Order: sequence, then structure tokens, then C-alpha cells
Amino acid sequence: MDGNGRWARKRHLPRAAGHVAGVSTVREIVRAASDIGLANLTLYAFSSENWKRPASEISHLMGLFRAYFRGDLDELEERGVRVRIIGNRKRVEDDIRAMIEEAEHRTVANAGLNLTFAFDYGGQEEIAAAARELARAAAEGRLDPETITPELFATRLFTHGLPEPDLIIRTSGERRMSNFLLWQSAYAELMFVETLWPDFSRNEFLDALRKFGERNRRFGGVVPEAVA
Ligand code: IPE
Ligand code: MG
Repeated sequence: MDGNGRWARKRHLPRAAGHVAGVSTVREIVRAASDIGLANLTLYAFSSENWKRPASEISHLMGLFRAYFRGDLDELEERGVRVRIIGNRKRVEDDIRAMIEEAEHRTVANAGLNLTFAFDYGGQEEIAAAARELARAAAEGRLDPETITPELFATRLFTHGLPEPDLIIRTSGERRMSNFLLWQSAYAELMFVETLWPDFSRNEFLDALRKFGERNRRFGGVVPEAVA
């Protein structure tokens, strides 16, 4: 979700107004995903690098996060959405951590859309933490290093239990990953759209999913010849 600040600047509004508009888009896209029966949607809400922003912007974003969880959880619950948050919870304020835990706990048995927020999330940190955990187990003699496979490694990531992403959409015309799901995106289809996140819509989202359906995915293999 990128482009909130530029959306606001184009309208001569403060960046905060762009973030407020961005939350409306979150609502619209989550509803669309739930309506069409999508299994998984992960939204990059706040990166481990976003702490570098001015304190006033961070505190506004945290306020929006609080308001979203307060205001939207009932609807998510009604839709059978299961909420997860991936990221480093130690840095977030206590009340937000409690909210996250409550949202996850309340929705744990829901079988609809798996809605995941990457919040205080950084892919490099996630990979380093997984390596640290495995290294500790090996040093303590609980793990034979020879048994470390990609599959085992992935069980130590925040996304354990979730499938790898099939499609990653980045809005606002930037063409980079910005530390998002670095391990998990090995074979993800990447889509970069010019639209700024607050202008992104249900229609554009559905269009992106249709275009994804036309991509030819081989996962490093070859497409089998049609049998005559
Ligand atoms: C994305 O919009 C929102 C968050 C990172 C929370 P930006 O705030 O990065 O918007 P631009 O890149 O300045 O336009
Ligand atoms: Mg940005």
C-alpha cells in the first residue's frame, strides 16, 4: 500500500489526510477479497523502516491502526475473517499489542479470508530472527544443522501456517520490494500499478487478479507439451 503521501500532496492536504483515505481503501479491498472468497490477503501496513518517519506521522498512523481495530473488528468477525499480524511486536505500544492479540484470539477459529497485516514488519529482520532461533537450537544441541531445509526454515518465520504469496501488488508506481516478504516471495508474481493507494479500488483489484490469472507460472520448470 504505497502513495498515501503523494495522494495528499496532489490535493494540497497534509500527509495525514492521505493515510485516512488509505484506510478507506483498506476497508474496500478487504471487503472485495472477502466477497469473492479469496483465501489470503496480506497488507503491508507499517514497515520496520517506517519508524524513521517524523514522530507526529507515526503517532497518527498508530491512531489509525487503533481506530481500525476498534471500528472494523465486528464486521471482520461477521465475515468470518481470521486476522493475523506479522511483525516485531516488541516495539509497538502496549495497548496496540493487546489489541492485536485480542483480534487474533477473537478470530482464530474463523474459516473465511485470512487477513494478515504486516505491521512493524521487515523481511530481513524476520529472516535473521529465524536464523538466530535455529542457531540457538543447534548450539544447545537440540538441532542437527544438517536437517535445516527451506521447509524447516519457513516454520520459524512469522508467516508459518500461511501459504507463500501468489501475487504481490504494489501501488503508486514504485518498483521495489521494500523488505516485504523477502523469503516468501521467491516465486510470487509481481505487479506494479501506477494508482496511488487511496485511489486503488475494488475494480482495479479484481482486474489485477484477472491479469494474474493470465500469467504463465512455471516455478522454474517447463510447461509440459500438449499431448497430441
Ligand atoms: C504508504 O503511503 C503508507 C504507509 C507506509 C503507512 P506513503 O506514506 O509511503 O506515501 P508516499 O510514498 O509518501 O506517497
Ligand atoms: Mg511510500
